[in-house]
Amino acid sequence: MKPVTQLIKEKPAIGWILFFATVVVVFLLGLLASTIVERRAESVFVYTPEVYHSQFEPRNEIWGQNFPREYQSFSQTADTSFRSMYNGSATIDMLEVNPRFVVLWAGYSFSREYNQARGHMHAIDDIRNILRTGGPIDGEGNMQPNTCWTCKSPDVPRLMNEIGVAEFYKGNWEDRGHEIVNPIGCADCHDAETMNLRISRPALIEAFERQGKDITKASHQKMRSLVCAQCHVEYYFNKERHEGVPYLTFPWDMGQSAEEMEKYYDEMEFVDWTHQLSKAPMLKAQHPGYEIYSTGVHASRGVSCADCHMPYMSEGGQKFTDHHIQSPLNNVNNSCQVCHRDETEKLVNDVNERHKRVIENRNKLEIQIVSAHVEAKAAWDYGATETQMEDILMDIRHAQWRWDYAAASHGASFHSPVETSRVIASGMDIIQDARLKLSRVLAGLGHNEPVPYPDISTKAKAQEYIGLDMEKLNREKQRFIDEVVPVWEKKAKKREENYEVSYY
Ligand code: HEC
Ligand code: HEC
Ligand code: HEC
Ligand code: HEC
Repeated sequence: MKPVTQLIKEKPAIGWILFFATVVVVFLLGLLASTIVERRAESVFVYTPEVYHSQFEPRNEIWGQNFPREYQSFSQTADTSFRSMYNGSATIDMLEVNPRFVVLWAGYSFSREYNQARGHMHAIDDIRNILRTGGPIDGEGNMQPNTCWTCKSPDVPRLMNEIGVAEFYKGNWEDRGHEIVNPIGCADCHDAETMNLRISRPALIEAFERQGKDITKASHQKMRSLVCAQCHVEYYFNKERHEGVPYLTFPWDMGQSAEEMEKYYDEMEFVDWTHQLSKAPMLKAQHPGYEIYSTGVHASRGVSCADCHMPYMSEGGQKFTDHHIQSPLNNVNNSCQVCHRDETEKLVNDVNERHKRVIENRNKLEIQIVSAHVEAKAAWDYGATETQMEDILMDIRHAQWRWDYAAASHGASFHSPVETSRVIASGMDIIQDARLKLSRVLAGLGHNEPVPYPDISTKAKAQEYIGLDMEKLNREKQRFIDEVVPVWEKKAKKREENYEVSYY
């Protein structure tokens, strides 16, 4: 046979035929590739529905009948065996690890008990068992509002739908105990009909609205972080929007940095509590995880929370999203190594090194703030006046807010090490200034010698130092667990029996 080039030379039409045939083949291949991509996205909806339930079905096991893989992996968040160098899903008593926290939070419920977060399946058990919710019985001994339930359960959107948002936030924590019983789950993040991601918490939608943004217009990739931003954010309870109702609000109107939120709180003179030792008007940072993540390199490259904490996995040829939300260090293979070619050991080391370096300075800042609280108490004891102390107390407020902003979300030192370090450094600057002013006030009152640093080397010693009666608190909690919780559970079971669920 003659070579193709010679054929074409003899009969140019063959050349054209070949050319168009190639165009058609390439076009068809392109079409095929694009349907494969689309199908991959669609494939998630190719399932045999077993059960029909409403959007407000709070029980994960019911949704799970349609999606056994997602349910099964979500259930693994109950596992508490993994511990990384600084995080993981085991219960870590942070007050034991770092007794300075007890003094930083003196006069506030966090000084009673504060643990490192566990998996989502534990959300209900942990809020019931923590000493911060106390041991309320028959309307007595309530220390928290109902608003505290907001981030714990798909019973929250259900109840908000039934009674309204402001009404949900109203009243004592004990009031809704029998309503909020299922741990975080499917209805918190999904639309029941399409299984698309869905924002179920009004506080996030409202925060966007106040900035003139419509959250329903967010891209799919953004939604893979925004579903987490319903809970892993800084928030406070605003009592002015609805008369007397502690309305869950995100302080983002001026921006999401430590300084912008601090300004927001300062302008409205918001105070979480008055510090027991220094009398400073304190702020408690919650867990500004989303805010800090947004300042990091991964966010700026469009990597979402789900990319690392909910990677895709494969089982029997079926690709699905791993719902075992946890420290990615327990799953580097599916998580980081999708994008990074480095060895597991190296990636884990990268994470731990970032934590370590940030925590080194954070510890120094803590010691400075504890000292300032103790010195401020001494100044009051020696007769300092409000005018003398006013400025100093604002400094303590600002420094501790910055420390907490950097510490509270657990992942910050990896999510955004540079911003986290910057915030810690700014806190250091403020607190050193405060201590300088304090030493002048103390000297003016005739005290030139250093105020001794207390022995707070263990949690027990620190709690004794601030005068907490732990035995009593534990006793009250135990009684609550034995007497109140079983009644809540029983009531809930009875109510749930009447939910409409039909089988195909
Ligand atoms: C680039 C990957 C990546 C992204 C994106 C990411 N994280 Fe993380 N996250 C990590 C790593 C790594 C850690 C540290 C884990 C450790 O030390 O064990 C972590 C820690 C955490 C922790 C503490 C974990 C624990 O064991 O207690 C939480 C909570 C968290 N991230 C939530 C989020 C949220 C919410 C987002 C999005 C707003 C997000 N993360 C985005 C990788 C990521
Ligand atoms: C904290 C939020 C969150 C919770 C809770 C949650 N999911 Fe998901 N789910 C996601 C995200 C994020 C994706 C990925 C969606 C995407 O990229 O389109 C996803 C994807 C899915 C998909 C699509 C198929 C796949 O695997 O990618 C199904 C089905 C699903 N989830 C079912 C469930 C079920 C059932 C539950 C309860 C047991 C549940 N989800 C709980 C966030 C959540
Ligand atoms: C409805 C509120 C809510 C939503 C939505 C939510 N979380 Fe959580 N998350 C929590 C709470 C509460 C805890 C702590 C539970 C405990 O300690 O009992 C937690 C714990 C965690 C932990 C620690 C788990 C461990 O094993 O240490 C990680 C990591 C985490 N969440 C990541 C995410 C990511 C990523 C998303 C979005 C895909 C998300 N969360 C969505 C409320 C939420
Ligand atoms: C979806 C892709 C993706 C995933 C998943 C991902 N990364 Fe990255 N990572 C990136 C990109 C993109 C950059 C920016 C690098 C650049 O632009 O040069 C980056 C940067 C980094 C850096 C250097 C920036 C810094 O923080 O100093 C480290 C370290 C890192 N990643 C570790 C991890 C670890 C650990 C995980 C898993 C927990 C992970 N990454 C998961 C895409 C990803």
